[in-house]
Amino acid sequence: MRNRVEVMHGVNLDQLGRRDPAHYGSLTLEELERAVSESARELGLEVRFFQTNHEGEFVEHLHRLNGMADAIVLNPGAWTHYSYAIRDALELTRLPAIEVHLSDVDTREQWRRHSVITDLCVTRIAGKGAGGYRDALVRLREEMSE
Ligand code: DQA
Repeated sequence: MRNRVEVMHGVNLDQLGRRDPAHYGSLTLEELERAVSESARELGLEVRFFQTNHEGEFVEHLHRLNGMADAIVLNPGAWTHYSYAIRDALELTRLPAIEVHLSDVDTREQWRRHSVITDLCVTRIAGKGAGGYRDALVRLREEMSE
């Protein structure tokens, strides 16, 4: 059974815990990843985590996923809104992916409403904090069992 999920965090997400808690909650990235690991364990999924502040590293990590992962949860941070390089690399993976945002990007600044990756993804989950990652895992488990 396919059960390997790569959880990828982009730019500035290593700063969780210092960022505006009204948008991002108060968990650090480490705490968030611990919660996601726990959800994955309950769901019988294997998760691996990756975070970088360098766009090229994010792209190269996507390149490396071939044969290493069965699905992707990604929160590229601000890159979501403009990085065609990440979009192209995500498309290359041909893996089911879910775009997750901690904050409710649709009710914030206009520029955050636009995503260059949504149409490549199974769905987009935003504004549910850490719970959004759990929802993404549940949905990807369904996708992987098809
Ligand atoms: C974010 C939303 C983005 O607009 C922002 O640039 C981030 C985090 C989120 O998780 O809500 O860095 O992706």
